[in-house]
Amino acid sequence: MGRVGFVPAATLELRNVSKRYPGAAEAAIEDLSLEVPAGEICVLVGPSGCGKTTAMRLVNRMIEPTGGDILLDGRSILDREPAQLRREIGYAIQQIGLFPHQTVGENIATVPKLLGWDRARIAARVEELLELIGLDPAEMRDRYPAQLSGGQRQRVGVARALAADPPLMLMDEPFGAIDPINRERLQNEFLRLQGEIGKTIVFVTHDIDEAIKMGDRVAVLQKGGHLAQFATPADLLMAPASPFVEDFVGADRALKRLALQRVRDIDLWRAPIVRVGQPVAEARALIEDSDLPYPLLVDEDGRPLGWLRDAALAGDTVAAEPRSRATPVLDMDDVLRDALSDLLAHETQYGPVVDAQGGVTGVLSVEVISHALAAGSPATVPSPAELAE
Ligand SMILES: Nc1ncnc2c1ncn2[C@@H]1O[C@H](COP(=O)(O)OP(=O)(O)OP(=O)(O)O)[C@@H](O)[C@H]1O
Ligand SMILES: [Mg+2]
Repeated sequence: MGRVGFVPAATLELRNVSKRYPGAAEAAIEDLSLEVPAGEICVLVGPSGCGKTTAMRLVNRMIEPTGGDILLDGRSILDREPAQLRREIGYAIQQIGLFPHQTVGENIATVPKLLGWDRARIAARVEELLELIGLDPAEMRDRYPAQLSGGQRQRVGVARALAADPPLMLMDEPFGAIDPINRERLQNEFLRLQGEIGKTIVFVTHDIDEAIKMGDRVAVLQKGGHLAQFATPADLLMAPASPFVEDFVGADRALKRLALQRVRDIDLWRAPIVRVGQPVAEARALIEDSDLPYPLLVDEDGRPLGWLRDAALAGDTVAAEPRSRATPVLDMDDVLRDALSDLLAHETQYGPVVDAQGGVTGVLSVEVISHALAAGSPATVPSPAELAE
């Protein structure tokens, strides 16, 4: 990956920042304070006109604050020369987009050129970034923006913002104009990319689902840049700080929370795991001890074969039949929302959960998920046995 993540990420702090546009009756931003730790994605989300773009443009000094201070790595940006500051801050915007009369390669090279890099270094950087964003350099480098799809243009915009390896990235609705399917793909690609480069990123969206997905932390802004809540996505969904936030997050916030939890995060039921030929007495004892009415038959490698019916326990040893299929088989890495829809689609109350090797590690049930929903603290979900006491 070469130099991509070479420059360390910066911290960003807004300290009592205000912005009143000349002649405006009210301030676009009033006394906004916000700290973004290095290497995190901070999402600004809020209704149209609440000051999100204004906040971004204050950070790279495209506009000047009328009050307060902004610190990049602890140092006031107001002491910096604006043009030089902007070269250290990647800025990706859907609306402005790429320079139409420059090729993809020239677009990406914009800031490195301004920084006076030599040709070989710029060429290598362009190549490296095109590969990073999943576009074939040989095919794409010399095209013009009009010859790309919207999603490809978007990716080139991100590559351009990354070109000089800036310690801070500002992204204003970067995926705003993209259809839902490609948007999701870009979001995933971007999160994967961020896993490698670990930039400090301020990301603006008006879409709460995107905010929850992309943000390490989410700042919900109200009119006038008023900070209604600054929290992790989980905290935002679990404990909205005000009726405004609650309303903004949406009535289905409990379901949204399921998209943040993985199967591995919650206490699964113990599975009564049996193998063919095992003494039936053992199998019965396992069922006694378990939350489930039937034993789960597994193969030599512990992979699930099916739920055994009573008749399979009629002899001295466990028989392979009769049994019903143990579908769906769930993965430890599944998000709870997907696991739940899998269970519902198979019209079943529970499914075995397997690890990366395919071996059964436990059983997930609709009941466990509903307790996770209600309690909001998945680590302490009681088993049905405990509930009955
Ligand atoms: N150049 C300007 N002159 C005067 N007022 C402005 C200017 N730019 C923005 N504003 C006002 O400042 C407020 C905040 O605008 P801003 O563009 O920051 O909102 P936003 O949160 O980015 O909205 P959106 O989601 O629609 O992009 C709005 O009331 C807007 O009308
Ligand atoms: Mg805006």
